[in-house]
Amino acid sequence: MSETFRIDFEPLGRRGAALPGQTLLDAAQAAGVGLASVCGGAGTCEECRVRLAAGTLTPPTLVEQSALSKGDLAAGFRLACQAEPLSNVKLDLPPESLTSAQRLQVEGVETDIVVKPAVYTPGAYGLAVDIGTTKLAAYLVRLETGKTVAKAGAMNPQIAFGEDVISRIAYAGREPDGAGNLQKVLVETLNNMLLEMCASASVSPDSILDAVLVGNTVMHHLFVGLPVEQLGHAPFTPAITSPLNIPASSLGLILGSGANVYLPPVVAGYVGADHIAMLLATEAWASPLNILAIDIGTNTEISVVSNGKVTCCSCASGPAFEGAHIHEGMRASPGAIERARWSEGIILWQSIGDLPPVGICGSGILDVVAALQDGKLIKPTGVLKAITGSEIVLVPAAQTGLGRDLVVTRKDIHEIQLAKSAIRVGLEILLQNSGLTYTDLDEFIVAGAFGTYLDLRSAVRTGMFPPLPLKCFQQVGTAAGIGAKQMLISVNKRIEAETIARQIDYVELTSQKDFTPLFMKHLCFEI
Ligand code: FES
Repeated sequence: MSETFRIDFEPLGRRGAALPGQTLLDAAQAAGVGLASVCGGAGTCEECRVRLAAGTLTPPTLVEQSALSKGDLAAGFRLACQAEPLSNVKLDLPPESLTSAQRLQVEGVETDIVVKPAVYTPGAYGLAVDIGTTKLAAYLVRLETGKTVAKAGAMNPQIAFGEDVISRIAYAGREPDGAGNLQKVLVETLNNMLLEMCASASVSPDSILDAVLVGNTVMHHLFVGLPVEQLGHAPFTPAITSPLNIPASSLGLILGSGANVYLPPVVAGYVGADHIAMLLATEAWASPLNILAIDIGTNTEISVVSNGKVTCCSCASGPAFEGAHIHEGMRASPGAIERARWSEGIILWQSIGDLPPVGICGSGILDVVAALQDGKLIKPTGVLKAITGSEIVLVPAAQTGLGRDLVVTRKDIHEIQLAKSAIRVGLEILLQNSGLTYTDLDEFIVAGAFGTYLDLRSAVRTGMFPPLPLKCFQQVGTAAGIGAKQMLISVNKRIEAETIARQIDYVELTSQKDFTPLFMKHLCFEI
């Protein structure tokens, strides 16, 4: 009987096995590890890079020798579709080699909260929530230990009243008790999530004594019943920026008797407590290094940390990365094309769940645009070249789950141009204000759900991110939720969050003289 080799996939903590002659990619797929493999193992996409941490593999193939630099090979990097184990091995999987389906599972791994919990009554629980414009993430935490005992995710039900914050502000102003409706549906959904978590962890809602909620300023104001009309026009002034402590019962949350809800301070109309929570969780704000921290969403918040100062801004990047305003756009769910790559004259693609594709999610459309650049199928202006026509067939009808071709249009490319330019301008202006250029950055932190899924190479290729070495980037996941949990169990972390909010300087991008010329410049692509 042939020997079976054990394969440890880190940092996932997943274990698989391979028979002699099977590749690491075979073993990953058999173990349910979502290793990117756009070319299906042909050795042409270079997406399946892994690093050997322990054990022995077959020598690098000719494909690997041409795909990987000498330095990468010396550092242990290999292509999983080419390398076969010769012993038990341990592999490090770089974030960019993982598909989003897997990353969702990574997010499911319990996050250690390193702060010391305050002294709480035994058996007391707390609720931490990140209220996003599109998605809600909630965590039920045992307060004595800081351990998350249950978590729940849901779409923000306010989407039914408007896709983005501007349309929700408009709804709140237009409809009788519009703001009240938005608050009511949100609280109902949060209560449902709470009951779901309580049931799964066998915890009574009565034992939930404390809660921390973070979100952008519009979500924050709508949740607590503050006016939002003034957030819809310049100078986008929040009704209140200071931290709030409100009895849960007055907000309609079904927590224990006397439970308190803490909302950390907001910074500006478009920089909310979720950004503060991210800076807290990543500890970027207190770093002696030059750091840029970005959370990409419909609104993208960016902070630059340098010389003990934190400067932030908000960019109107739009909903393209949520799949909105894209012809075949959809959210990152099964059947969405999430990865694409130019290889040998064609665009290779990969869908979530390896299903026949039915649309393209944000990371996929960004990859497609980068692939069009690589294939020289678009001009620097984003216009499709004449040979291409007015749209590109990405997947022919026979291979889609739509029964028709899946196409990418000129307008899709334009949406990505607007989004990537808005983000790039924001970070360039913040860097200028801090007396830095991107080459001065020691770290580039990318937070948030989309930031976790995007392929950094495409973000750099399209010009959304500056051309820094990939090792400068850190994709940290949904850091705002971690920051909310930290504040839930530690009063000191609440004080720290309030210190960040006091110290941070906000830059209004649209009032900067360089804004328009920079925006026009970064609309273009390098071909
Ligand atoms: Fe290995 Fe494409 S799957 S190079």
